[in-house]
Amino acid sequence: MTSLASLDRTWRNGHRVVAIDGPAASGKSSTAQWVAQDLGYRHVDSGALYRAVTAAALRWAGPPANWDPSTVLDCAQRVTLAPNEGTSFDVWIDGHEASEELRSPEVTSHVAVVAQMQVVRSWVNSRVREVATRFDVVVDGRDMGTAVFPDAELKIFLIADPWERARRRLLQRVQRRPTDAEIAAETELLVRRDAADATQTVQARDAILIDTSALTQEEQVGRIVALARASAAGE
Ligand code: DC
Repeated sequence: MTSLASLDRTWRNGHRVVAIDGPAASGKSSTAQWVAQDLGYRHVDSGALYRAVTAAALRWAGPPANWDPSTVLDCAQRVTLAPNEGTSFDVWIDGHEASEELRSPEVTSHVAVVAQMQVVRSWVNSRVREVATRFDVVVDGRDMGTAVFPDAELKIFLIADPWERARRRLLQRVQRRPTDAEIAAETELLVRRDAADATQTVQARDAILIDTSALTQEEQVGRIVALARASAAGE
């Protein structure tokens, strides 16, 4: 008898999906990248697509105060996702590789508005689903296990204490031990971002919750890889 899981993924040509969701700075993207490498899958960062559409809108949609969904969607047509030589995808805007631009403070401060636009959400979801028809993928975002891949073979929801998330993010950015005052300021920003993203950050009922506050990245990756292997072996 064909199992339900394999029936579910016929639309993906049999390709497998590990969906990792969670709030900002929960370590999703770096964890997903590493999990993909260990499993021999490709990593897709859905947040990077929202960021790319925002970067394109900043160039071509006029002043942000006047952005309307259909103009922003026009800008999205300039964004493409291309498999790179490693195990992920590069994001291109209008024929240029755009990874650097996606992390700019300007993009970061406007992306939440773009991510609220339903037409943009549908566009991003189609791009990510299309990739899953060609590759086994580890996708990370906010709603990968709910809106985009309700049929994913494995769903993970990563959380961590806001103070710890802020500390990790600063450590990455400043390359030294951040002070308590710096962590406090960053925690406030993160909590505000959590609120802006709250409607779309959804834990699937069948997701496995992992609190990474006291875990090293190696431990998080090890757990997820073990779960993915167990799920593949159990079919
Ligand atoms: O994970 P990130 O910081 O790169 O995400 C950028 C923005 O996109 C953030 O506002 C949350 C939003 N996002 C979303 O709404 N849904 C996703 N699947 C991924 C990101």
